[in-house]
Amino acid sequence: MRKREIIMWTINIALVGAIILFFVINSNSSQYTSKMTIKSQATTSLPVKSASVGTNTNANIVPKNNTISTTPSYTLAEVSQHNNETSCWTIIDGKIYDITSYIYSHPAGVNKILQGCGVDATKMYGRVGAHDVARLANTFVGNLK
Ligand code: HEM
Repeated sequence: MRKREIIMWTINIALVGAIILFFVINSNSSQYTSKMTIKSQATTSLPVKSASVGTNTNANIVPKNNTISTTPSYTLAEVSQHNNETSCWTIIDGKIYDITSYIYSHPAGVNKILQGCGVDATKMYGRVGAHDVARLANTFVGNLK
């Protein structure tokens, strides 16, 4: 009888231990998941402008581990290096776009689009009704310093 009681107690203690272990592991992994969620929200949902260095007005919501990516910025001199068909950066309304991949598919010809490489093409680009800055969003490389 005594032996049976000892066995029962051992089983009980093992069971309680297993349950506690389960909760400990589970709470750790959910903490991890919520951290990951915060990180991915921070890097994707913040507007690019507010994440830029020096002008961050949302400093109070920036996580301490610095997971927010910053928007690069370049001087006109740097942009002007990318002035040909192998690398064509252009400035439109203070934003820099790498439009190299558009050069050979430009509907008005290669020479027309090349005029905008390495320079501020705000006026040139704005003159054409068919141009739409929103179309260039995926070619954005940074802001003009
Ligand atoms: C800053 C660089 C660019 C410059 C300087 C430029 C210049 C021009 C010019 C001068 C025209 C008018 C041609 C004419 O009426 O005879 C034109 C037309 C056009 N461009 Fe650009 N362009 C640039 C970038 C782009 C890009 C990146 C796209 C596409 C995403 C694009 C799409 C078009 C389209 C659709 C037209 C109209 C063509 C037509 O009406 O047949 N351009 N461009």
